[in-house]
Amino acid sequence: MTRALLVTGGGGVGKTTLSAALAVRAARLGHRTLVVTVDPARRLADALGIEYLGSEPAPHPSEPNLWAAMLDASASWTAIARRHATPEAAGRLVDNPFFNAATNHFPASQSYAAAEEAATFLDARAWELVIIDTPPAAGGIEFFTAPRAMTELVGGRVLKWVTGASIPGRKLFFDRATKPALRLADQILGSGLLEEIAQFLMDLRTTYDGVAQRSRQIESHLKKATTLVVTTSDPTPIREAVKFFRDLPEVAARPTAVVFNRTLPEDWIDARPGRVAAVFAENLKRWGDESRRQRDLRTEFEARYRTPLSHIGWQPVAPTDLDSLESLVSEATGFDLDALLS
Ligand SMILES: Nc1ncnc2c1ncn2[C@@H]1O[C@H](COP(=O)(O)OP(=O)(O)OP(=O)(O)O)[C@@H](O)[C@H]1O
Ligand SMILES: [Mg+2]
Repeated sequence: MTRALLVTGGGGVGKTTLSAALAVRAARLGHRTLVVTVDPARRLADALGIEYLGSEPAPHPSEPNLWAAMLDASASWTAIARRHATPEAAGRLVDNPFFNAATNHFPASQSYAAAEEAATFLDARAWELVIIDTPPAAGGIEFFTAPRAMTELVGGRVLKWVTGASIPGRKLFFDRATKPALRLADQILGSGLLEEIAQFLMDLRTTYDGVAQRSRQIESHLKKATTLVVTTSDPTPIREAVKFFRDLPEVAARPTAVVFNRTLPEDWIDARPGRVAAVFAENLKRWGDESRRQRDLRTEFEARYRTPLSHIGWQPVAPTDLDSLESLVSEATGFDLDALLS
């Protein structure tokens, strides 16, 4: 069976880095592992050996159990249209400017496309562990709510109202009556706009059964997945992390652990400046205070949300190779992240 490990949290907290770090670690522990990242920084992509990689998983050139893929939300949308619409409707959708606008502007679109793609990798049963770096939208929560939002978009009230509830009869009506009327209006307006919009809505509506069924399958994967919430000690990402405990979406299992990333070293808390020059002393005191604040915050978080908690120190340089990525996991303090990997 393929296990899913979802790495989630607010923007810029280190989700992609930690996903990669956990994947390297899992691979070296002997698990056949796929890491699915979202837009990794150039140097990280190089470290993962995914320099030229797209959304198809590829094996790492020198790490035997490690595979990597990079999510490409726009390419996934084409795949989604082709999967859930008839070939004829899919062709029209992909070429329709409104489809492109909707997929770019619908808030949950990137998350939905990512969730669909991730589910495909889980269904493939080609790996023991699939680690998924979730897109940061809405602090990662959206990844969990996107399937339902998508089902609502293609089958919701607005679209039903425009296209009618029962597709076969309505399609006939659309082709015989609505389309010619719109065409006439377009002739008067001197454009093909109205017909194009209506055709788009009609084609989108035909994807409903496929999308609804796929969304249920995705939700069942999400329920079974292990979820790791990543945050830094800053207020915004902490607010995002708290949502996973306070307003946990129905489809998500309670997070297995929280990782506080880029923390200051705890042994700075009681650093004694001694005879260091005054400017250093002040500097050290401030960092000591900050480190204490971060530690207290973690203690409070752990107690309030009764969650295992791990933290990873702020590295002097960002990890850029496999060894430094792996060491992020092995040097984590508190909850043992290795426990997530077997
Ligand atoms: N423990 C750490 N110590 C030092 N630098 C780190 C650490 N973890 C991550 N970083 C650096 O922080 C930056 C943000 O990390 P990363 O891209 O993994 O975050 P993210 O959560 O994936 O961001 P986004 O939400 O934009 O996708 C990167 O430059 C990364 O190298
Ligand atoms: Mg990222």
